[in-house]
Amino acid sequence: MSDQPIVLAAALARFDTLWSPRIVTRVNDYDVRVAKVAGEHVWHAHDDTDEFFLVIDGELHIALRDGAPQSDGSRVERVVTLPAGTVFVVPRGVQHRPFSPGGASILLFEPSGTSSVGDRHDPVPDHVDATVGHPLD
Ligand code: NI
Repeated sequence: MSDQPIVLAAALARFDTLWSPRIVTRVNDYDVRVAKVAGEHVWHAHDDTDEFFLVIDGELHIALRDGAPQSDGSRVERVVTLPAGTVFVVPRGVQHRPFSPGGASILLFEPSGTSSVGDRHDPVPDHVDATVGHPLD
């Protein structure tokens, strides 16, 4: 962990891989991660933790299954739209699928060791990195 200030734009310039979070620093037992995203992530849920999103640039959408329970046990879906400068917290246990047609840079704040694809997820496509975060090279 750096003892120097971290310029997020410089951190983001050091990698290009999409949906592959980098750990820029830690706060107690939480990671501050940044990621570049474009296209669709995968439906997943974190059973034991909320997940904090801050959009640095671009626009992120998050589909959420947090609506009324349906007869088949699933929940009604909705989508939140997060322009740059917006924060949003996905509560623990809620299935969610981030996506960004135009691309975005985001900051995530979540307990160290949290998987990017959660504890439950649909099949992970090749373009999504299932990771607990990579060090910033
Ligand atoms: Ni998540």
